[in-house]
Amino acid sequence: MGYRVAVFGAYGHTGRFVMAELRERGFDALPVGRDARQLAVFGLGYRVASVDDPASLDAALTGADAVINCAGPFASTAAGVIEAALRAGIPYVDVAAEIEANLDTFAHFTERAHAAGVAVVPAMAFFGGLGDLLATTAMGDWTSADEAHVAYGLSSWHPTAGTVAAGVVSRERRDGRRVRYTGGRLEYQPGGELPRTDWDFPAPLGRRTVLGEFTMADVVTIPRHLAIPEIRTYMTVDATTDLAAAAAPVAVDELGRSAQTFTVDVIVRRGDARRRVVATGRDIYAVSAPLAVEAVRRVLDGRTRTSGVASAGEMFDAPDFLRALSPAIRVEPVSD
Ligand SMILES: NC(=O)c1ccc[n+]([C@@H]2O[C@H](COP(=O)([O-])OP(=O)(O)OC[C@H]3O[C@@H](n4cnc5c(N)ncnc54)[C@H](OP(=O)(O)O)[C@@H]3O)[C@@H](O)[C@H]2O)c1
Repeated sequence: MGYRVAVFGAYGHTGRFVMAELRERGFDALPVGRDARQLAVFGLGYRVASVDDPASLDAALTGADAVINCAGPFASTAAGVIEAALRAGIPYVDVAAEIEANLDTFAHFTERAHAAGVAVVPAMAFFGGLGDLLATTAMGDWTSADEAHVAYGLSSWHPTAGTVAAGVVSRERRDGRRVRYTGGRLEYQPGGELPRTDWDFPAPLGRRTVLGEFTMADVVTIPRHLAIPEIRTYMTVDATTDLAAAAAPVAVDELGRSAQTFTVDVIVRRGDARRRVVATGRDIYAVSAPLAVEAVRRVLDGRTRTSGVASAGEMFDAPDFLRALSPAIRVEPVSD
């Protein structure tokens, strides 16, 4: 063990969960960020660095074995931290949920990361990473499918300031349009009301009204490596109402987790055949920590399936990865 892992954005809500997870698992966690006062709270050695100052990032990553970027919006931070990881020759993992920022990571760094032999795993978190691992697991021996559906059943969604800011950045980049994945590509359409439908989640959640075309980062991660031309993501309407109200999450346990629970229901369809895998757990920010840290662990151990920039399902053995997340995330196949 003894690997040193730098966490950029360590004192943010998600960064704190990642710092705790690293320490719990015996890593040497190195807090990095732009505010020395907030970094000092960890009571550890820390490094002050800014994405506008590459030399500060180089100094911050000196001696680190990997870096996890938790500082969002990632439209502002991902490229600078990936550049620094490439200069340092160390793996990079981030928790970006921004569709366009994740696309940029694939577009700008795939060749260079591959040539450098450096693993770069964007969206290695609840949105993007988990859906990809579940869809990959549901596919099993299928190499293609007609459709993938990822339905998010959140009991509530009190967003952090980072989530709200990322939403603003993404909306600005889309210029009021909405995005969906159809015909094997992302399609931008005029904005407007998202379609509503009912989704039958497994018990105990049961039937819930969801917004369709509530498009999340899974539409970037899944089609990187699975031939599925239609990918839809859905969100419980109650959670979207909370999201719009933007009240911050409230910690209710000693780990800092909120009372929020989640069910992620993934269905892939090929012809008349359907395969389904369901994940449940608590607090989408908290569970992003075991997702990101397990990814770093596997990259550092060489338990990877490819090199360069890759999504979770492409980089790792998805069923094995999901098993390692238990009990933080419980995963079950469901037969219809
Ligand atoms: N994919 C997922 O499922 C998932 C899960 C969790 C989080 N996220 C994403 O992760 C991001 C952070 O979320 P959060 O919950 O931790 O939010 P947060 O509590 O608001 O924390 C944001 C952190 O990012 C830092 N930061 C922001 N812009 C920065 C910049 N330009 N340079 C350096 N540091 C910067 C902030 O530092 P300052 O205080 O110095 O600004 C703070 O430490 C959001 O974009 C969120 O959407 C995604």
